[in-house]
Amino acid sequence: MMIDICDSYEEMSRKATDIVVENLRQHRDLMLCAATGGTPTRMYELLADEYTDSPDLFSGLNVIKLDEWGGIPMNHAGTCESYLQQYVIYPLTVSSKRYISFQSDPENPKEECLRVQSLLNNRVIDICILGIGINGHIAFNEPADFLHTGCHVAELSEKSLQHPMVSSEEEKPKYGLTLGMRDILNSKLIILLINGIKKKEITKALLSEEITTRLPASFLWLHPNVICLIDKDAVDTA
Ligand code: F6R
Repeated sequence: MMIDICDSYEEMSRKATDIVVENLRQHRDLMLCAATGGTPTRMYELLADEYTDSPDLFSGLNVIKLDEWGGIPMNHAGTCESYLQQYVIYPLTVSSKRYISFQSDPENPKEECLRVQSLLNNRVIDICILGIGINGHIAFNEPADFLHTGCHVAELSEKSLQHPMVSSEEEKPKYGLTLGMRDILNSKLIILLINGIKKKEITKALLSEEITTRLPASFLWLHPNVICLIDKDAVDTA
């Protein structure tokens, strides 16, 4: 894992944007796996600025949604769908043919995971954008005795249910739908973004390089091509 400590959230977001844009220049129809949440928002805004200058660069971009809150309607303000529509799909004009997405309210959540898995099995994720939960989760691969390889229905931890995307909503998600650890680790390049004081403790644990299912992000140490951009607020300098 290549660790790069950045002076600010802005610098972290710019570096991530530059990496995505550089890769897009080489490979216009790349598949981007997109996390949601507070961390990648500025990076997506900067990508939208790039789109304004060079829309052609994005004309072949494919996007797959990393995960979704389950049991709430798709148009609910807190879904990953609402977030991605706002920050990625609409601003970068990603057509429905170029977008793979979990439904948030499927009749059968397990079948929904199988559907996404079958779409993903024929493809390669070129760049996977990840954030990290304060409990060490990546996507909804939550700390547990064992982790899952493929797309699955996740039992959400208390900490995940306190995530700002859904914590203030009356209608709470009942489960998560998520890519599994193998799906993530099969990506050609992973960009892990970490920012803010509230991530200090988990960042310290991650940087200890101890791999454990209690800190799913620690498995990223096993991947040959991870760029971890961390803003200095999340780094324990004591
Ligand atoms: C979101 C996701 C989550 C978040 C993580 C950090 O799609 O997969 O794992 O990346 O909870 O969230 P933020 O960035 O809001 O701190």
